[in-house]
Amino acid sequence: MKGPLIISLDVPSKEDLFDIINEFPKDEKLTVKIGMEMFYAEGPQIVHELLQRGLQIFLDLKLFDIPNTVKSGMHQIGKLGVQYTTVHALGGSKMITAAKQGLVEGAKESGVKPANLLAVTELTSITPEILKNEQNSRLNMVNQVVSLAKMAKFSGADGVITSPLEVKSLKKQVGDDFLYVTPGIREKGAAKDDQSRTASPSQAAEYGSSALVVGRPIIKSNDPVRAYHGMLEEWNNAN
Ligand code: C5P
Repeated sequence: MKGPLIISLDVPSKEDLFDIINEFPKDEKLTVKIGMEMFYAEGPQIVHELLQRGLQIFLDLKLFDIPNTVKSGMHQIGKLGVQYTTVHALGGSKMITAAKQGLVEGAKESGVKPANLLAVTELTSITPEILKNEQNSRLNMVNQVVSLAKMAKFSGADGVITSPLEVKSLKKQVGDDFLYVTPGIREKGAAKDDQSRTASPSQAAEYGSSALVVGRPIIKSNDPVRAYHGMLEEWNNAN
């Protein structure tokens, strides 16, 4: 099933964030991504405020620590009632299982639905050279990503963050019953910023993305609402 087009609110302050949000109609069912910058600046209060406004939240904090510490952290995230959150798959199967347990227990304590746990496989900043020479992986990038995605699924993750260009082959090897959430989305012919491997919303739909993450093409646009609706329509109307 096609999931949301998630707006990545990569801005430094709460004021900047609400400048964008307030442009949208109050009843618009938005899903927004909050990252480390905003969360470290504003804390859980920003999450409460956005949830109170009826928004769905992807809290992208990419946890990576020993299993017990990640479980405790995820317990707190679980209590917040967000819809998506992230861990690094490189933390290993025990850490991912602990993350899921923490999320489920925290959500239960607050009486909310547990967030979807998404695993980051290899960061897009990791080159094949870094993989080989610094991470000392015996696998090439594609096989490494597939291997980490399979392990994450087996360990209780609900999906992965991946480039839209990798979804087809990942789906074949990891399965349809897993979320493939894809950043790197640009309209055909639009500026790529620092993203090198991009796809348009309709291409991402064709490749099988479960949900899109879009930042600059919306938040840096002169008309964020229009930019969002344009991309949303393309995403929703694509097969
Ligand atoms: O502005 P842009 O659309 O490129 O923003 C994409 C968002 O997705 C940013 O928050 C970025 O950090 C995040 N992301 C990414 N590539 C990944 C993982 C996350 O672009 N592999």
